[in-house]
Amino acid sequence: MIPVNEPLLDGKEKDYLLECIETGWISSEGPNIQKFEKEFATRVNRQHGIAVTNGTAAVDVAVDALGIGEGDEVIMPTFTIISCIGQIVRTGAVPVLVDSDAETWNMDISQIEAKITPRTKAIMVVHIYGLPVNMDPVLELAKRHGLFVIEDAAQMHGQTYRGKACGSFGDISTFSFYPNKHITTGEGGMVVTNNDQLAGDSRGLRNLCFQPAKRFVHERLGWNLRMTNLQAALGLAQLERLDEFVQRKRNMGKQYSERLSELTSVQLPLAKTDYADNIYWVYGLVLNDESGIDAEVVMKRLGEKGIGSRPFFCPMHMQPVLQNLGLFKGEQYPVAERLYRQGFYIPSGMALTEEQIDEASQVVKDVLA
Ligand SMILES: Cc1ncc(COP(=O)(O)O)c(C=O)c1O
Repeated sequence: MIPVNEPLLDGKEKDYLLECIETGWISSEGPNIQKFEKEFATRVNRQHGIAVTNGTAAVDVAVDALGIGEGDEVIMPTFTIISCIGQIVRTGAVPVLVDSDAETWNMDISQIEAKITPRTKAIMVVHIYGLPVNMDPVLELAKRHGLFVIEDAAQMHGQTYRGKACGSFGDISTFSFYPNKHITTGEGGMVVTNNDQLAGDSRGLRNLCFQPAKRFVHERLGWNLRMTNLQAALGLAQLERLDEFVQRKRNMGKQYSERLSELTSVQLPLAKTDYADNIYWVYGLVLNDESGIDAEVVMKRLGEKGIGSRPFFCPMHMQPVLQNLGLFKGEQYPVAERLYRQGFYIPSGMALTEEQIDEASQVVKDVLA
């Protein structure tokens, strides 16, 4: 079986982990946390990094730090992971969805302005699968209407938009370090920002909002979302190799695209736009309408032939848990619905070899022949 993901942990990971064990620093109090926060934040050109337990937690903290609450509206893509919407809904705010762009698979930014109302508090951008959202028009809109920008860069380590790091655009931006990401800490995430107040609030929210003066007296409800020194050890070792990893993924994407270019029944990922080159967080394929089959069928056949795959995201407006809350009644987003029905990704992990890409490509061609 060629798995859909396998991380590469053959740098300094073992050494740094051993050091944690030998020194006894295994909790969030250890020195790696601050080091990782500082180095990662610097890498994405931000003043503050707040390490948390996962990328979902990072989004939760970001939404809460901005004070988003009952009655506020947040404009966001329907085609994303459930992580993006959880805290918006829990807090009583209203998620307002936009459809996707059929070429980049990112949110269709031309739909944002029409969704802005006096209640809109923020635009949440989510960079999808390897290409960033076209940020300049979004930032201009946000500025003109006085809105916050939340940037979910969970999949975008090492990616740039017009030469500037992804993760440097939001009032507050977030990352995930799950093992399918360009760099991993096992489980982990980070909030980054240049805003001192948001950084302080995020630190508080991560740590139960303990107060320095009166530790067990709380003015606000937080969570325990602290990353451990062990995870940060992995993060530091991985961060040393980020450029190499990005290059590796770009080579993988190029190899897949060369091998699969003859296929007429699928849309391959765009190699570049005028603002970024793809970093192929995953190598996605979207079946053409004429192919006459759904992704589910293709994924089953790939699995039978030993090739791992995953479906594309199920759009937020199609989620039973959200529909049951009365959200998105009668709303339709045809591009996102098509991506869900016809999209899937094939093995894309950092440890994937050239031989495995050749093999996986051949099986994809056989299955789609
Ligand atoms: C865009 C996006 N946001 C948030 C997350 C959540 O990250 P985590 O799995 O670390 O909670 C993911 C995970 O893949 C993601 O792709």
